[in-house]
Amino acid sequence: MEASPTTLLSFLFTLFLLSFLPTSFSSRSLAKSVRCNKHDYTALMKIKAALHNPYHLASWVPNTDCCDWYVVECDSTTNRIVQLTIFQANISGQIPSEVGDLPYLNTLVFRHITNLTGNIPSTITKLKYLTMLRLSWTNLSGQIPSFLSKLTNLDFLELNYNQFTGSIPSSLSSLPKLTGLRLDRNKLTGTIPESFGNFKQSIYLYLSHNNLSGEIPKSLGKVDFVTIDLGRNKLQGDASMLFKSNGSIQTIDLSRNMFAFNLSNVKFATNLQYLDISHNKIYGSIPEAITGLDLQYLNVSYNRLCGKIPQGGKVQNFDSYSFYHNKCLCGSPLAACK
Ligand SMILES: *[C@@H]1O[C@H](CO)[C@@H](O)[C@H](O)[C@H]1NC(C)=O
Ligand SMILES: *[C@@H]1O[C@H](CO)[C@@H](O)[C@H](O)[C@H]1NC(C)=O
Ligand SMILES: *[C@@H]1O[C@H](CO)[C@@H](O)[C@H](O)[C@H]1NC(C)=O
Ligand SMILES: *[C@@H]1O[C@H](CO)[C@@H](O)[C@H](O)[C@H]1NC(C)=O
Ligand SMILES: *[C@@H]1O[C@H](CO)[C@@H](O)[C@H](O)[C@H]1NC(C)=O
Ligand SMILES: *[C@@H]1O[C@H](CO)[C@@H](O)[C@H](O)[C@H]1NC(C)=O
Ligand SMILES: *[C@@H]1O[C@H](CO)[C@@H](O)[C@H](O)[C@H]1NC(C)=O
Repeated sequence: MEASPTTLLSFLFTLFLLSFLPTSFSSRSLAKSVRCNKHDYTALMKIKAALHNPYHLASWVPNTDCCDWYVVECDSTTNRIVQLTIFQANISGQIPSEVGDLPYLNTLVFRHITNLTGNIPSTITKLKYLTMLRLSWTNLSGQIPSFLSKLTNLDFLELNYNQFTGSIPSSLSSLPKLTGLRLDRNKLTGTIPESFGNFKQSIYLYLSHNNLSGEIPKSLGKVDFVTIDLGRNKLQGDASMLFKSNGSIQTIDLSRNMFAFNLSNVKFATNLQYLDISHNKIYGSIPEAITGLDLQYLNVSYNRLCGKIPQGGKVQNFDSYSFYHNKCLCGSPLAACK
């Protein structure tokens, strides 16, 4: 048998590795100790090349066990790659389509990468075990693809702090396991889809700092939000359906929109801790029940509210700046009512 230069090299390399191991280690057990699946290995090598071999992936050395590499994780029984988490890296380029060739991924993260551009590759829909997708603080652009709704195991979808434009795909509400959706800090336009009333589980929804407009669908009143953040958009009309006496709601942020509705009769769930409705056109008075809440933050400033500020509970923990610029609010911390 002729020894090719490659086999000779790998023989020498094996000898070199063995020299670091206890003598009882046979070359057979060394081969066994490589856990990395060869298909995953090939996909990761292609991903590294597509990202122009960045320093961040320097530990992805050819012919080493990919289960030992930085920013990836193998499942301890199947040895398949289940996580790829790239955070704060100096990487320029697009999300490689080869991420779709890591079929057992449950977690895919690209975060805080200024020079990551382009859109989300459609190959991502091959990742049927994906539960967490976080592509945030990057410079991804274009429309948010509606094919994300094919990732039916998704529990958490985070696309915030990007340059996404266009409207919110209504299909996202069909994700049966979703409990967190962050689309805030993009350039999204259009209305909030009617279908967003179909979320079946308790959910955190962040849509703030976009250019969303129009009225919010009545159907949102059916959803058990834990957090609903709609701040800094161009939304208008009624948002009173978000205020319910039951449910899990902890945070309501409607600030800096054009909402106009009567606050007098809204109900507060006992868990509500954060309420910011500042900079809208909300009228009526502040319901007495607000004194029963364990409030951490309250801001009703810059609206058209009137009447006596309820006295008691946590309400007077907030200074006049939480109440000022209304039509005729009075009482502590503002001036006494006449
Ligand atoms: C991003 O790209 C710019 C321009 O090509 C470059 O100067 C910069 O170093 C890159 N990386 C980061 C982390 O900003
Ligand atoms: C990012 O990497 C590029 C190319 O490798 C390099 O020129 C640049 O200085 C790096 N930028 C930062 C902020 O590290
Ligand atoms: C997007 O790119 C711009 C220009 O390169 C940069 O200033 C900004 O910080 C980037 N955004 C993020 C979230 O990295
Ligand atoms: C919203 O649209 C206005 C113009 O209509 C634009 O000036 C502004 O930058 C946009 N804001 C965001 C967050 O995209
Ligand atoms: C709140 O009460 C309404 C009306 O009784 C009911 O339809 C809804 O399912 C309840 N929501 C939660 C989250 O319990
Ligand atoms: C708001 O609703 C209350 C209670 O139904 C009512 O008394 C009040 O007149 C309404 N305020 C305005 C400005 O419509
Ligand atoms: C409430 O909002 C107003 C207007 O944006 C702001 O000036 C004030 O500081 C806020 N109050 C608190 C407690 O943050």
